[in-house]
Amino acid sequence: MIKKIGVLTSGGDAPGMNAAVRAVVRTAISKGMEVYGIRRGYMGLITGDIFPMDERSVSDIIHRGGTVLYTARCPEFRTAEGVAKAKAKCDELGIEGLVVIGGDGSFRGAADLSAQGVLCIGIPGTIDNDIACTEYTIGFDTAMNTAMEMVDKLRDTSQSHDRCSVVEVMGRGAGHIAVNTGIACGATDIITKEVAYDLDAIANTMLEKKSKGKQNFVVIVAEGIGHAQEIATALQEKTHIESRATVLGHVQRGGSPTVRDRVEATRMGYYAVELLEQGIGNRVVGVNKGELVDYDIQEALSMQKPYDVKLHKIAEQIAF
Ligand code: ADP
Ligand code: F6P
Repeated sequence: MIKKIGVLTSGGDAPGMNAAVRAVVRTAISKGMEVYGIRRGYMGLITGDIFPMDERSVSDIIHRGGTVLYTARCPEFRTAEGVAKAKAKCDELGIEGLVVIGGDGSFRGAADLSAQGVLCIGIPGTIDNDIACTEYTIGFDTAMNTAMEMVDKLRDTSQSHDRCSVVEVMGRGAGHIAVNTGIACGATDIITKEVAYDLDAIANTMLEKKSKGKQNFVVIVAEGIGHAQEIATALQEKTHIESRATVLGHVQRGGSPTVRDRVEATRMGYYAVELLEQGIGNRVVGVNKGELVDYDIQEALSMQKPYDVKLHKIAEQIAF
């Protein structure tokens, strides 16, 4: 029976990470385990920025964005020496199991530490929803809702000025935030790297729509494509419709998590501790058809995430 576990958040933060930390801490305590909080991801594990947590350590955080454990990117942990230091710190404190809340990079680190004998469980936490082994990642829903609210506001001013608003949303290499926000905001066009696009064709359809009475336009651009300003400039040149670019940026990573993020984070945190309780490590928690499942970390990292091309096509088809 595992007696002591640690929990850390790593990589980009995401709303709902606090709910996951809370669930991990309280589940572990309810099962008679001791829990250590590790600050700033793997950095804290290497430097020893580690503190004991009790049930009150996670009071009043379920509704807060960000992560109370802080997060960081830690290049040293990518080296064998870094992993060895982290393992030595775990041994020193008697930490036998570790819950890592983060993305694919963080899971690679968790696999390295698992290989050294620390039982690691990954919980997918990233606004991008770009982790292949799971239908859902913590933070995705909140980020999309934030993006939707921002685009709704842009639409107000775009409509008043008969303009085209080109909005870049986050998602590193993936268009999941873009396609869902685009649908939710009734975007005229969605540009992601997963579906081929042609600016001349987009400009032509904008002009066709304008000729039928449409006066304002919203184009959602995924971060992976980038160049929102260049796209706005090109569309303005091609259509003579006044266009403005907005990059939403890190605002999408903040804010109070939605119900979905709090619930999924709590379920995943609970599940992760259940795995550790059984002496299971080197796994990533995922959602499959709504149910929680877990995968070997290497297997999880080798999976490919499908993009919802159908959703993209629906958006295009009904954007009159
Ligand atoms: P995310 O977890 O959101 O994908 P990163 O890719 O920045 O974010 O990874 C977070 C941290 O995980 C890195 O700073 C590093 O400490 C660790 N990490 C990332 N990639 C690896 C790797 N290939 N091997 C070991 N550790 C890694
Ligand atoms: O992975 C989450 C994310 O917000 C991506 O959407 C974005 O590309 C990246 O992190 C930004 O990272 P940083 O915080 O380093 O600017």
